[in-house]
Amino acid sequence: MTEEKKNMQQEIASLVEKWKDKEGNLIMILHELQNYFGYVPRAAALELSRALQTPLARIYEVITFYNFFKLEPPGKHIISLCLGTACYLKGAPVLLNEIKTLLNIEEGQTTKDGLFQLDVVRCLGCCGLAPVIKIDEKVYGKVQKNQVMGILSEYSEHQKEG
Ligand code: FES
Repeated sequence: MTEEKKNMQQEIASLVEKWKDKEGNLIMILHELQNYFGYVPRAAALELSRALQTPLARIYEVITFYNFFKLEPPGKHIISLCLGTACYLKGAPVLLNEIKTLLNIEEGQTTKDGLFQLDVVRCLGCCGLAPVIKIDEKVYGKVQKNQVMGILSEYSEHQKEG
């Protein structure tokens, strides 16, 4: 057994022990797993199914019901596109479409190369700058559709340099 697999088994065993008698334990364990790995890997879901003696299908039912859970590793750069009211009214849906088209992904997905993840959020707290896109910790305000490609390419270039 690889070291990684052993760690995963130990982590899951301790989570099961911690939550086993509590209500809603499957959801709480999945939350903790996602915090730990950044997503819910298939191997972890399988191991959890075994440890909890719960069918794998039931685990995936819960994961797919809640948008919060992710089945893919997080992207290197997280794009948070604000669809709060102010941003929405100032054209955020157009920006969302532009990003989806350029990166060929939908909301909540990660690009094939793992470089970007696209999340839609409700209000980033800087409505005066609407429409707003945040990439990792950097905020871009009053973004126009024709600026989106340039903004994304800042991160692609960093990737090449690194
Ligand atoms: S609505 Fe977008 S920052 Fe507030």
